Amino acid sequence: MSSTNRWAWVEVDLAAIKANVAGLVKQAGSSQLWATVKANGYGHGAVEVARAALNAGASGLCVALADEAHELREAKIAAPILIVSEQPEAAFEQMLHDDVAATVYNEATINNYAAVAKRLGVVGKVHLKVDTGMHRVGAPVDSAIARIEQISALSSLQLDGIYTHFAAADLPSHDETDKQQQRFDGIVAELDRKGLRPKFVHTSNSAALLRNLNSKTDIVRVGIAIYGIAPSNETEDVASRLRPAMSLHARVSHVQRLSAGEGISYGLRTRLEKSANIATLPLGYADGVPRRLWRVGGEVLIGGKRCPIVGVVTMDQMMVNCGDLEVNIGDRAVLLGAQKSESISANEIATRLETIGYEIVCGISARMPRVYVENKA
Ligand SMILES: Cc1ncc(COP(=O)(O)O)c(C=O)c1O
Repeated sequence: MSSTNRWAWVEVDLAAIKANVAGLVKQAGSSQLWATVKANGYGHGAVEVARAALNAGASGLCVALADEAHELREAKIAAPILIVSEQPEAAFEQMLHDDVAATVYNEATINNYAAVAKRLGVVGKVHLKVDTGMHRVGAPVDSAIARIEQISALSSLQLDGIYTHFAAADLPSHDETDKQQQRFDGIVAELDRKGLRPKFVHTSNSAALLRNLNSKTDIVRVGIAIYGIAPSNETEDVASRLRPAMSLHARVSHVQRLSAGEGISYGLRTRLEKSANIATLPLGYADGVPRRLWRVGGEVLIGGKRCPIVGVVTMDQMMVNCGDLEVNIGDRAVLLGAQKSESISANEIATRLETIGYEIVCGISARMPRVYVENKA
């Protein structure tokens, strides 16, 4: 039984997180591993994952938001934290009190952050992010040196790092990763000439580390791999030793024997071709099970067998066609993870939905109880 009041829950295996981090730390060699725990630890629980990752050898943490960093500090996590994009000015005081490393790239943001640090009488740690090709955020390549010189001239800021983010490291045949690295190398060489190289020069995400592209990075900012999920179908081979940490469980809450021709769920869009045992599970799209999973061949494991989702997933409940399999109220169903010899991965679900495993695990909503376990390998 789960230890929650719901017959649907997420299990997070912290032993898998630790094993993944320990293996990735080894692979990272002389680079530090900073665990990316944004978006509530990719849906797994930021504080629990952060503690497990630090325990297994991570040196720091990355988050997306000032409030995500604050949650870690509130939990008494003292490790270095990098917020990976610029934040609204309203968050600056909190960030400085929390002693996090801010990412900066706009001239005005740098001046504003320095002014708030000066007013508080503290020195703000910053990393400059450079846009070497992803075109999401970052200082343009041709203004990176000017931004570094600007930061270096401000006594209330301390330049701890310079970094970039790869746009296509999860697509091994793509040539953009090499090009981004070359553009970034050019900036770092110029900083070396000027004596302005900061302590941390970094590039790599999970895919870059798994592909051993991390020789020139002081930090690997690893997210999806610590959760045991391959960054893409194209990197499944280099991620094969990882252990998925999240599994998604429910207990059958209702069972019906329905005849051929009966329609199921809203719109009665599915009609049974032959009579079958139909199990209801008490979770739905409000919990993060995508509504249209029924249309793309989504399956659930019951009794170690794959059973198709039948009819639209509703907000709180969904139905599964168990055929002639004997199924009873209280039987365990697995939507993500393993049961007997069968398993369903985040990337399997993602592929059906033409998305990525990241979106599947991040999408599991706050309403789902998280149960933390330490399973043996
Ligand atoms: C700047 C930055 N670094 C590192 C990561 C971690 O990426 P991944 O989960 O692919 O390892 C992310 C995630 O999107 C990111 O935005």
